Amino acid sequence: MTHASGLLLDLGQYPVLLGRGTLKACGTHAPICSRAFIIHQAASKKYAQTVAESLDERKTDLALVEVPDGEKAKELDQVEVLYEKALDAKLERTDAVFAVGGGCVGDAAGFFAATYLRGLQLVHVPTTLLAQVDSSIGGKVGVNLGATKNMVGSFYQPELVVDDIDALQSLPPMQISNGLAEVIKYGLIRDSDFLRYLEKNMDAVQAKDPGALLHVVQQSVQHKGTVVAQDEREAGSRMTLNYGHTLGHGIETVCGLPHGFAIAIGMHAAGILAVEKGLLEKQDLERQNDLIQAAGLALVAKTKADAEGIMEKVRNDKKRTAGKLRMVLLDKIGNCRIVEVTEKDAQFALEQVLE
Ligand SMILES: NC(=O)c1ccc[n+]([C@@H]2O[C@H](COP(=O)([O-])OP(=O)(O)OC[C@H]3O[C@@H](n4cnc5c(N)ncnc54)[C@H](O)[C@@H]3O)[C@@H](O)[C@H]2O)c1
Repeated sequence: MTHASGLLLDLGQYPVLLGRGTLKACGTHAPICSRAFIIHQAASKKYAQTVAESLDERKTDLALVEVPDGEKAKELDQVEVLYEKALDAKLERTDAVFAVGGGCVGDAAGFFAATYLRGLQLVHVPTTLLAQVDSSIGGKVGVNLGATKNMVGSFYQPELVVDDIDALQSLPPMQISNGLAEVIKYGLIRDSDFLRYLEKNMDAVQAKDPGALLHVVQQSVQHKGTVVAQDEREAGSRMTLNYGHTLGHGIETVCGLPHGFAIAIGMHAAGILAVEKGLLEKQDLERQNDLIQAAGLALVAKTKADAEGIMEKVRNDKKRTAGKLRMVLLDKIGNCRIVEVTEKDAQFALEQVLE
């Protein structure tokens, strides 16, 4: 549906307002609340202020709260700081939390919203490409437990997601690449037309052309929204979204790479295994890899010594999923399947992507 302030996408449980300048329309679309608790990181402060101005027009009490940058925001003691500030602000059950920032803000603020007073209204206002195309959709919120990422959390759906394409203009190129790994993933696992679009328009996307970014975010939101609507709690088809993640998560933690960069390497490893198993044509793997590189992402991690550490992480993840090691493998561009693999398979694939 087109709206004066952008597109209003209906994901079933909640709408996504998407367009240019949509932050200014937060006050029109956000749920009724007498207080707004607006959580942001330093880089998204100016966007939080725009959200605040739009809510001020409808006479909402406002509190702007800054959290530390990056994963530090996802430490449990930082969530405790939010609980204390919420007490000071006298937040009530009918009030709303606005998570304005990257995926770290969305995860931490979402976890806070899910748990404070057993649940406040939540609005995601993602300002990184990764957060717009992935983390703000699907309801996963959570924090880290020591070095173990996303160990404590919940499924908690927002009332509204507001994606403002103009907020992406301040992102450094590396953050565009970081988000593009997940975008490419949607094309690879679900949509060969979208993959072709990315092949043709990668320069425009990287140059932050608003029309290209709008298309990329819209397609990604719809892909993730559709998969999650079928399987909110990851009992089946949602697992396909883990393409590149089985090894990618281990690479992310052990090598300290940003999420998207690690997932790109994980997709390369999964592609090699799919070719090895006779599921995928070699030329399709080459198409995948060319696109990954065109997006400014690497195919290999320069860290051979860490192979055992990564495998240990993969084994720990396996324990979390009832002892079976499953990987998502492509059978062609635009189609994938979930395959049970041995540890030896995973190790073989991993070794091909470590230098
Ligand atoms: N909940 C989910 O389903 C899900 C899915 C994928 C990833 N995640 C989580 O998301 C997190 C990563 O998200 P991220 O990559 O957005 O990280 P992030 O929140 O750390 O943001 C990346 C960097 O961009 C800066 N930034 C934010 N908006 C900006 C803007 N508009 N202009 C300039 N700089 C800006 C931030 O300050 C930060 O330094 C991880 O913790 C990951 O576990 C969650």
